[in-house]
Amino acid sequence: MTSVSASPVHGAVTDWLLRFDGYDPADERRREALCAVGNGYFASRGAWAGSAAGDRHYPGTYLAGYFNRLTDRIGQADVENESLVNLPDWLPLTVAIDNGEWLTPDNSDVLEHDVELDLRRGVLTRRFLLRDRHGREVRGIERRLASMADAHLGGQTLAVTAVNWSGRIRIGSAVRGGVTNSGVERYRKLAGRHLTDLTPVVADDKLIVTATTCQSHHRVAVGTKTVALHNGDVFDWATRTDSTSAYAELSVEVTAGDVVSAEKVVAIHGSRDAGISEPELATRIALDNAPGFEQLTEAHALAWSQLWRRFSIDLEEPFDGTLAALRLNLFHLLQTVSPHSIDADAGVPARGLHGEAYRGHVFWDELFVFPVITLRIPELTRALLQYRCRRLPAARLAARQSGYPGAMFPWQSGSDGREESQRLHLNPLSGRWTEDATFRQRHVGLAVAYTMWQYVETTGDVGFLSDYGAEVIVEVARFFAALAEYDAGRDRYVIRGVVGPDEFHTGYPGRADPGVDNNAYTNVLAVWLFDAAAHALDRLPPWRRTELIESLGLTQAERNRWDELTRRMYVPFHDGVISQFEGYERLEELDWPHYRRKYGDIRRLDRILEAEGRDVTSYQVSKQADVLMLLYLLPRRDLYSLMDRLGYPLSSGILRSTVEYYLARTCHGSSLSAVVHAWGLATLDPDRALAFLEQALHSDSGDATRTGTTAEGIHLAAMAGSADIVQRCFTGLTTTNDVLRFGPRWPAKLGTLRMVLRYRGHRVVAEISTKSVTLTVDPEPGPAIAARCYGRTRLLRPGETHTWTPPH
Ligand code: BGC
Repeated sequence: MTSVSASPVHGAVTDWLLRFDGYDPADERRREALCAVGNGYFASRGAWAGSAAGDRHYPGTYLAGYFNRLTDRIGQADVENESLVNLPDWLPLTVAIDNGEWLTPDNSDVLEHDVELDLRRGVLTRRFLLRDRHGREVRGIERRLASMADAHLGGQTLAVTAVNWSGRIRIGSAVRGGVTNSGVERYRKLAGRHLTDLTPVVADDKLIVTATTCQSHHRVAVGTKTVALHNGDVFDWATRTDSTSAYAELSVEVTAGDVVSAEKVVAIHGSRDAGISEPELATRIALDNAPGFEQLTEAHALAWSQLWRRFSIDLEEPFDGTLAALRLNLFHLLQTVSPHSIDADAGVPARGLHGEAYRGHVFWDELFVFPVITLRIPELTRALLQYRCRRLPAARLAARQSGYPGAMFPWQSGSDGREESQRLHLNPLSGRWTEDATFRQRHVGLAVAYTMWQYVETTGDVGFLSDYGAEVIVEVARFFAALAEYDAGRDRYVIRGVVGPDEFHTGYPGRADPGVDNNAYTNVLAVWLFDAAAHALDRLPPWRRTELIESLGLTQAERNRWDELTRRMYVPFHDGVISQFEGYERLEELDWPHYRRKYGDIRRLDRILEAEGRDVTSYQVSKQADVLMLLYLLPRRDLYSLMDRLGYPLSSGILRSTVEYYLARTCHGSSLSAVVHAWGLATLDPDRALAFLEQALHSDSGDATRTGTTAEGIHLAAMAGSADIVQRCFTGLTTTNDVLRFGPRWPAKLGTLRMVLRYRGHRVVAEISTKSVTLTVDPEPGPAIAARCYGRTRLLRPGETHTWTPPH
């Protein structure tokens, strides 16, 4: 039926609130992703409670690391996909009048409707006023949360008022087990039923559905306990089960103005959880001992306030909306990975726990996420890195099966570290399936090694390096050293047949062999890695270095080759810029104005061109930053010296031309692109860098994404990356060589930054503006830290403050 209060529909983030006024069915699924509640263990989308999965609503609940495989027959081939599993839906808490249908905004007149996410406390509130076809109005308010205090618990309340009528009101509560993975339209024709052995039970006041994932055999239990109140009386529920679900219902006689309220607690456990053997029993016990909603909220809000103290990033007088968007992004980051993720062995899913895009897979996005976490909860980064360490055997096997030594990490990773990338891609614009060679993004291994080294540099956690990190770094270096072939004509080493971060270029037009040659990002970062691997070994205590060298059988000849590669790797250039890959300059130029005019949104030029019968690989068109990733990952002076050693001296002119060249040829089809471009432009063109910050900040909450894919899950790397632009890019914060270093290029428009960091066991408050940098170390036991700014180093002891001002 009609929705009366429309707009603003895009979602306004003010201060600590994300708010959507009105009911807009077309935007509902994006709102659900942005209004998801989660705690790093599980997350539930912000769907209308009790809504059925369909085009308008998608009430998904996901548990970190709970994957399952299903197989489809496509053409002549069996295609297997592993997906993060949508679990039984615990959200139904609904209202009906007499024997009428459960009221929803789709079967009644929506007189009022708004949704508000309190970012400070992590509570979602939905208010509504609905009118049924007999003119009877019900006002309601629903709140929900996923407890940040107890990862296994969540809660919900519903209070409804019979506005202008008297009669019978019904309240329904349920746990619905008949769910499938059907949240992404492109995958809908493929198998999506992951749960089997569904067992709904009613036990006293509890509804519990247990189920098993059909291939991975994880047992999960989702249970609820609901209490209803009317005029101080508590009511009994009529309960029932069917083959998949458990339901409770009650009815109350009310007179106009009466309020009926219900309170529901959910408990979720799974057989993958540490310390759990029987998920159903654990769920029963948790429900029996769970506090009421108020108490649950108190503990939850306290946990959030503690997290916010750690993640405090404040801007004084920033330009419009920056701070609010920053908080929204940090909020969703912490709902995806939090201290509750430490034992989950789940990695960093690219689209959060907020939807089914990319099937919940883990790519290289942690590269953009860790810098924000490591400087606040280093033990969380450590745990997330362990996800990769545990999958080193799978990466070794993949390398061996491809004929290489060392470790080849998968481009898309899921439960056990095998390659999960799809081999066929459906272009929704043309309806055609095309070969997908994006799995050739071998650079993901470089990201794995890079994040490990960066973690060690920031934290000084040599224990991690010694026990886990060095082995991974060495094995990845080995793989890349073998991937590099000697090209006698050039007297240089080359890497052929890979795909760089720009996924549009999975090959050359007309060449049968997939992949491109000498992707500059891959070659240069591999060189960085050979050097880092040598450093990693040097950093180990001698006894451990000996052990590792022995058990890996690492020879001096291999180490000599690494050294040789740091001097003789080939890097392509053309017209005074670094080439994205060999031959990029020979590709056709695209008529950009024509495509912009014709299509408006040209972020997915690959699909647009394919639908026109063309091939994106023929054009100088990049989906996202590729060469510029080097400026993102490597401090300028490190990049200069690395390239010098290779015999390719760089200059600021070359870098400026390189940035300009690719900026003109990139359509930003990935949200990561904005983060990297902000970095590339921070010193060259601060105003344009700010524009990219804006883009990264609003990549999910902004208007543009109404045509994007936020409905299927948030873009975690862009969310975290936007915070990282503020904390590291504009402040010039680096943590190499045991020095906390700032080199601000702080934009006056952002006012003053005040952020809290954790560095080498200390809590450090940093205040940065165009005028000064001030660091204060909390008074707590521990050694002094070395901090440097504007060329001056200070040893800061606990309790000390120091201010640096720019030289005149
Ligand atoms: C990007 C990748 C990214 C993935 C998941 C893709 O569109 O090209 O770089 O890792 O999305 O976020």
